[in-house]
Amino acid sequence: MRGDDRPIGVYDSGLGGLTVWREIRRQHPDESLVFLGDGKNCPYGARPAGEVCRLADEAVGSLVAEGCKMVVVACNTATAAAIGFLREKYRDIPIVGMEPAVKPACLHTRSGVVGVLATARSLDGELFRRTAARYGENIRVLAAVGEGFVELVEENREDTPEALAAVARVLEPMIAAGADQIVLGCTHYPFLLPVLRQVIGDRGIEVIDPAPAVGRRVGELLDRCGLRAPQGAEAHYGFRTFADGEYLNRLIRKALG
Ligand code: DGL
Repeated sequence: MRGDDRPIGVYDSGLGGLTVWREIRRQHPDESLVFLGDGKNCPYGARPAGEVCRLADEAVGSLVAEGCKMVVVACNTATAAAIGFLREKYRDIPIVGMEPAVKPACLHTRSGVVGVLATARSLDGELFRRTAARYGENIRVLAAVGEGFVELVEENREDTPEALAAVARVLEPMIAAGADQIVLGCTHYPFLLPVLRQVIGDRGIEVIDPAPAVGRRVGELLDRCGLRAPQGAEAHYGFRTFADGEYLNRLIRKALG
């Protein structure tokens, strides 16, 4: 069977996008992937939108130059700042962005209170505001920055007392306000799921990671654009960074180790 064996590019400011990469890999085992974790400019979360847009352009441009057939912007912050620009500039290939999973949270809440954790840049972006206004009618949407979360993940300190304290600091007020859904609006945050679960305990709160939905979206676009790899193809996994070799090793260990 014929197919398109060019890789799919997956990009993030750093290591967080690996939470999306691993889901794409799980759902589409025939597809080769090239993961680019900028690393040099991470975190993006508090940078001005124009600067994030320039960084995203450089990153997506390098994946397109490498011959990727599709690019997944596995970064909510870069999506918020640049998705329109990227789709306009790289018209020849599909560009998939991260949607803040506010919709499923608002549909599932029983308490009427939903918590959203993301970076400052994502939360003041048009995409979040529009989504929250559209689905959050009659629902209290509490948004907070996961202060320090990205740094904890980048430094491989997810499993530490500092991580537990940082997560508790942000999560406890949302839980106290009655949130029964917590949306992870930054791709770094799912690496903190074990400590998030520890803080939540048995309070019956659902944590929503949008990565599986992004994986399904990738599948729809592969079909719609006729881009699927040949069935049973041997998938290859490449890793790139704008940072140094040490960071690249850390990235590969986090992905495969
Ligand atoms: N992982 C990114 C996101 O989804 C960005 C984190 C950062 O660089 O601040 O928003």
